[in-house]
Amino acid sequence: MNIHQTQQRPRKAVIPAAGFGTRLLPATKSQPKEMLLVGRKPVIQYVVEEIQATGINKILIVTNQKKRTLEDHFDSNLDHFSQTSEVDGDIEFFYTRQSHPKGLADAISKAETFVGNEPFVVCLGDSIIQSKPTSNILENLIETHMENQANVTVLFEEVAFESVVKYGIGTPKFEKGLAFSVVGLVEKPSVDKAPSNLAVAARYVFSPEIFDYIRQTKPGKNNEIQITDSIQLALKDQGRVFGLKLDHDEKRFDIGNYRAYFEAFFRFSLADPEFGSEFREYATKMLEI
Ligand code: G1P
Repeated sequence: MNIHQTQQRPRKAVIPAAGFGTRLLPATKSQPKEMLLVGRKPVIQYVVEEIQATGINKILIVTNQKKRTLEDHFDSNLDHFSQTSEVDGDIEFFYTRQSHPKGLADAISKAETFVGNEPFVVCLGDSIIQSKPTSNILENLIETHMENQANVTVLFEEVAFESVVKYGIGTPKFEKGLAFSVVGLVEKPSVDKAPSNLAVAARYVFSPEIFDYIRQTKPGKNNEIQITDSIQLALKDQGRVFGLKLDHDEKRFDIGNYRAYFEAFFRFSLADPEFGSEFREYATKMLEI
């Protein structure tokens, strides 16, 4: 496998946001799950700010026909929204559509022209990562990718064993601190077949060769073209795949189900700079009743 591009720093990010959000009905009946509010901001704005903190300023959002409000949200010409919705700084947004729900790898393949022959970052639009105040996980992932001359670098989180059925699960090797090399990856295995409890946590860095592997990927779990399977093809072809694990005081909120959504909203409300402490008192009183 060719690794000539992997030392270059990614300059572009892709946010797949074309999922249906069926586990969040009825909230997602007529609005995208990426636009659900967590505290003061919609989920996707946290994702964009996380990307922006790495210095990347070109973002492609992969949407579908039900996701028009995503474009409106990041349109800085709407004066009356600008105070609450505009992301500071100089980000250029691009949009493309995945018209048929064929899977995450298919959504990522829509970014090929935008990405060109460069490494790039993929951040799923329904997950917020809460890092330590002093660090940026995405930046650490990019550095891990470059240091290891990787073809693919994936963020992982440890999950409860019964939850492995919901995620891509990795087989780690040579653990060194929080970074390790990945020797296998399987999408949503059964509990007894899971190689570990390390779950893919919605952030990836890819070298552009991934598009070739996506083209070779056959429909897998749920009859969808899974990016996990494309990465597994890269591994079979001697690709260098690395993982970075979230630390114990870092957390991912997977806003794809109500439990995680409530947890995220509660935590971010408690951390609100204006009403956080008042809300904490309120919550404490409520819990005493
Ligand atoms: C997708 C990926 C899976 C990953 C998960 C993270 O699954 O296919 O490998 O662990 O995102 O949120 P989905 O949530 O779309 O079913």
